[in-house]
Amino acid sequence: MNKLEDYLVSIPDFPKPGVVFRDITSILQDKDGLQLAIKEILKLLADTDFDLVAAPESRGFLLGMPIAYQMKKGFIPVRKKGKLPRETIRAGFEMEYARTELEMHKDAVAPGQKVVIIDDLMATGNTLRVIADMVETLGGKVVKICCLLELPELEGRRQLKDYEIASVLSCD
Ligand code: HPA
Repeated sequence: MNKLEDYLVSIPDFPKPGVVFRDITSILQDKDGLQLAIKEILKLLADTDFDLVAAPESRGFLLGMPIAYQMKKGFIPVRKKGKLPRETIRAGFEMEYARTELEMHKDAVAPGQKVVIIDDLMATGNTLRVIADMVETLGGKVVKICCLLELPELEGRRQLKDYEIASVLSCD
């Protein structure tokens, strides 16, 4: 079987010139790649005690849900503003003149619950930061942040200093 990085495809100039896009769908579409990806994230959580997985749409869902299912934990979908039907809490960030706002249901986390945040990729860390803020506003504790792939060049860890972060792959 290949290593996980052998399944990762990098696409130059996507979505705009000068950007090298790391495409995790090339991992997930291969049956062995998918097994490896989930198993590697499970390994990152082997010694972590937690109650819930929170993950952002859409690629975070692809990894967060199988982990929550396998570990027999609840799953919290983090969505763009206006998609969740019940009472929500919201947090956002500005990026290149556009504001992104994310929401989770207010009753998704009870005070004291331990939450793992899972996403496919850590770039600037903005998405992970606002999810952590929302979890904490609801009284939860972020016990770990796990990503399949980290782009250290974008220094996401800088604004996530207070958290334990683990990623399976790292790529410059
Ligand atoms: N791949 C996927 N998502 C991203 C990337 C990337 O290289 N950079 C920022 N978001």
